[in-house]
Amino acid sequence: MLLSTVLATLLASVPALVQAYPQPGACTGYCFTHDPALYRRPDGKYFRFSTLRGIEIVTANNIAGPWTKVGSVLPNGSIINMPGNKELWAPDVAYIQGQYYLFYSVSTSGSQTSAIGYATSPNMEPGSWTDQGSILTSAPGQTPYNAIDANLVPHANGRDFYLQWGSYWDQIYQAQLSINGPYVFASGNHNRIAHDPRRSSMEGPTIFYKKGYYWLFLSVGACCTYTPKPADEYHVNLCRSTSPSGPFVDKAGKSCQDGGGTNFIHTHDRVYAAGGQGVFTDPTLGDVFYYHYLDPDAVDYNSAKFGWNVINWSADWPTI
Ligand SMILES: *[C@@H]1O[C@H](CO)[C@@H](O)[C@H](O)[C@H]1NC(C)=O
Ligand SMILES: *[C@@H]1O[C@H](CO)[C@@H](O)[C@H](O)[C@H]1NC(C)=O
Repeated sequence: MLLSTVLATLLASVPALVQAYPQPGACTGYCFTHDPALYRRPDGKYFRFSTLRGIEIVTANNIAGPWTKVGSVLPNGSIINMPGNKELWAPDVAYIQGQYYLFYSVSTSGSQTSAIGYATSPNMEPGSWTDQGSILTSAPGQTPYNAIDANLVPHANGRDFYLQWGSYWDQIYQAQLSINGPYVFASGNHNRIAHDPRRSSMEGPTIFYKKGYYWLFLSVGACCTYTPKPADEYHVNLCRSTSPSGPFVDKAGKSCQDGGGTNFIHTHDRVYAAGGQGVFTDPTLGDVFYYHYLDPDAVDYNSAKFGWNVINWSADWPTI
């Protein structure tokens, strides 16, 4: 090829490069995490919660670290009497009416016998958590979903609350919650809000309200087995709706009940299989998208690391 042809070919691929994802924000100290949940207390201390060991608690005075492992939410496991109740998965944390609520899952890998439970605390410190037990459960042949990966979103009216959860099986479901002090009850109406008929793997919903929309972030693709590397590894897609209960659509207007979903983060640079995400509002940084990702050369569970990026809301659809 003539040099000019080579240049023209290179330039034609530039739009793809322009859309490249930024590097994750810095992390020093203890950065291992799976399915992180992040919250900043009013005194400025950051709390990061992770899957396993009764939900690990890791704290820092700065989102970039240094992070220190300080204990577990439920070091002796959950009172929910089900296999997996010593490990606990996929925390989500919310601050409502003066206390912290931490949602967790009890399950074992590949099983639909699961429960979503929660614990409450006045300050998130180790030793301060009271296990409140189960909100909802799933079982083979009894529920279409798997009761894991819970996330709470308040309605913009400040009075109503919604819990979304799910993975594999019939994918993402939601119920309205009533919250009264330590008591949390889920409505008996469990509605599916996202589904992809082409793949079984969709989990870890997170809903965040901004600019008049409820933004539904979903971890899709193969989450956990990376040898050999799958064709469709973990990544995060985005849908939105003007109502917390949907209908959710992607940027092209495709229904997220029928495989819609606009990519938000995917494997790039040294970031492999990003997912298990959440969003929180930091008083100085703004809205922060956080996740775990793997080392592309050591694609195993133990290489999972905390990643975060500030969300850019200036266009119609957000980016990092
Ligand atoms: C966990 O179990 C140990 C041994 O039974 C007990 O000493 C400890 O107080 C328990 N911790 C919590 C937080 O319940
Ligand atoms: C935010 O996104 C817009 C495009 O939508 C871009 O022009 C702008 O530079 C971005 N801001 C930052 C801080 O990256």
